[in-house]
Amino acid sequence: MSETLENTEAEAAEQDGYGSGAMAAMGPEMAADPQPVWKALRDETPVLPIDDLPMGGRGVLLTRKEDIMEALRHPEIYSSNMDAVDLKNKRPMIPLQIDPPEHKKFRKLLDPIFAPRKMQAMDDEVATLVNRLIDRFIDDGQVDFAKQFSIPFPSEVFLTLLGLPLEELETFLTMKDGIIRPDHVTGRRYGTKTASEYQQKIADSVYDYFDHVLDEREVERRDDLLSHFLDAEVDGDRLTREDILDICFLFLIAGLDTVTATLDCMFAFLARHPEHRRQLVEDPSLIPNAVEELLRWETPVMGIARVAVAESEISGCPVHPGDQVMVMIGSANTDEAEFPDGDVVRFDRDVNPHIAFGGGIHRCLGSHLARLELRVALREWHKRIPDYEIEPGHTLTYTPGIRSIDHFPMRFTASPA
Ligand code: HEM
Repeated sequence: MSETLENTEAEAAEQDGYGSGAMAAMGPEMAADPQPVWKALRDETPVLPIDDLPMGGRGVLLTRKEDIMEALRHPEIYSSNMDAVDLKNKRPMIPLQIDPPEHKKFRKLLDPIFAPRKMQAMDDEVATLVNRLIDRFIDDGQVDFAKQFSIPFPSEVFLTLLGLPLEELETFLTMKDGIIRPDHVTGRRYGTKTASEYQQKIADSVYDYFDHVLDEREVERRDDLLSHFLDAEVDGDRLTREDILDICFLFLIAGLDTVTATLDCMFAFLARHPEHRRQLVEDPSLIPNAVEELLRWETPVMGIARVAVAESEISGCPVHPGDQVMVMIGSANTDEAEFPDGDVVRFDRDVNPHIAFGGGIHRCLGSHLARLELRVALREWHKRIPDYEIEPGHTLTYTPGIRSIDHFPMRFTASPA
């Protein structure tokens, strides 16, 4: 293994206790600058067996796009069921933790709701949310980008979709943070008793929260997603109350932090690369391409999890039932076998088969919503704030796994009103 990776592992393990060996390489240091670590792994151990996962058991870490696609295209061998990810949910989250053939039934129902044209129709509404947030700090010349923009924005979009008042923002944030990062909230390492108990308490409260809102919608339907779920049918079957709760649980963890992290990664990149930023200010028609290219380069969701449910092998490495399979999509997106100039960020890249939204049957259901949010945020922001930088002297800290930045002080010069 390369020196770069060994150093990163040692430092991350010491600072954060993320376990030993290769898993330590997935700590905060690596999250700040992942591309060199991906390259070292691809060059030297593209299929890396790990005997001592921090959560126990064995695993294998994949970094080449070809191997990754092999795993994602075979859910009958590499499952995303409840053994792959445990977020203290009572039942499988729908549709992520459902295997085929049942998975298809749920996507058939959910895909049309998040279809590109439906999402596009929300452009004005989403732009209003963006501008309302910017209004609050535009006169200050400085902002904590995370606290004042990237964290509240996706939650507000989701509250709007669900037909819930924006005043529910704090409740939403408490629920998603409690499940995704109980370690941050409790100050105890992920997986410790205190963090796990807190995570369990919050997970239980999520079911109660949505159950209560659904009771209200049973009495009086509205023009919102939850009312839609109550009446939706697939092949003549209605969704049960438990189905709807299991969908809502997943939405809360899949649809908020991901967009926050993507905005953090994109704006950190643009703050550090004024020449790229200027391209977007001068020619906003580049924004859709820039969104794809920054999703590729930054890949905010660095990896996704599978568990083997059958004997198999990947590029000669045996995989046994129960093994964790860690699929590093960030590495696939910079794999030189797929992207010969993959280490160059180019907003004029016209063919961009990145897998930042995953691949195979579980490819992101919300990708069109996410793209809308990202494009509108970049468009409205750069109209009003074309010039910005990270607060001089401040080093951004990225969270591992999903690369968000909790504290992101920024200085800016606004356009004349
Ligand atoms: C830029 C933002 C986003 C990124 C980078 C992202 C990334 C991903 C990835 C990598 C997966 C695959 C997970 C796996 O295979 O294990 C996924 C699945 C999923 N995402 Fe997203 N996501 C984003 C936004 C959203 C939004 C806004 C929603 C809201 C509806 C959403 C809902 C889902 C759902 C429901 C799945 C599971 C799909 C299935 O199992 O069939 N995501 N996402």
